[in-house]
Amino acid sequence: MKPLIWRPPTLTTKRLVLRAFVESDAEPLFEHTRNPNVTRYTLWEAHTTVADAVTFVRDYAVLRYLEGMAEPYAITIGADPRPVGACGCFWSAKPHQTMELGYWIAEPFWGKGYTVEACRAVLNFAFAEYGPERMQARVIDGNTVSERVLTKLGFRHEGVLRRALLRRGVFEDVRMYSVLRDEWASVSEGRAVSSNQPEG
Ligand SMILES: CC(C)(COP(=O)(O)OP(=O)(O)OC[C@H]1O[C@@H](n2cnc3c(N)ncnc32)[C@H](O)[C@@H]1OP(=O)(O)O)[C@@H](O)C(=O)NCCC(=O)NCCS
Repeated sequence: MKPLIWRPPTLTTKRLVLRAFVESDAEPLFEHTRNPNVTRYTLWEAHTTVADAVTFVRDYAVLRYLEGMAEPYAITIGADPRPVGACGCFWSAKPHQTMELGYWIAEPFWGKGYTVEACRAVLNFAFAEYGPERMQARVIDGNTVSERVLTKLGFRHEGVLRRALLRRGVFEDVRMYSVLRDEWASVSEGRAVSSNQPEG
């Protein structure tokens, strides 16, 4: 029998454990989600109280899990259970089999390759589990580090959606990236051939 409360399966990589969010994550999460450097290029605003983090877990994460979506995943490092970021793939246009990848990681952990490692694992899972034809990612113009993450993952830059986003009173240009199902299969295959190490 199916469990009443479905949760995303835990994914492990060389250095990370990716798991479902739980309400007790709110406090450690707030230590990072309160940082405006993290939200400089995100659609969500920096949390101002721990209640905002509770709302994220209860009203965003748990609702997605109830819909059977393995998103968002909490990113944790090694044996430390505290979340340091989030990532995941959600349907952006289900009738067209298009999903979208999103991610962030806390500032003390930038530049260590954790986001690429975490996203590889959730992309492998999402392509296998949900079988989308297209995985897209949108980046607000100027977020060059995020573009680098996508390029390293094998995404292709498709173009710029000019002033497609009104955010914080400013019209922003949005860069569209994507990787297709067959492209992801060959990217993953190439990695499996070049390395015997499971990299997520
Ligand atoms: C964008 C973000 C997710 C990148 O995460 P990360 O874990 O630091 O990325 P990785 O360590 O996997 O590195 C990816 C590449 O970016 C480079 N990079 C990371 N931080 C950098 C920095 N501050 N300056 C320049 N390059 C940087 C890395 O060196 C790496 O490139 P390389 O392999 O050529 O050296 C992270 O900075 C973040 O969470 N930012 C705030 C939220 C956000 O913008 N989310 C994305 C919205 S689209």
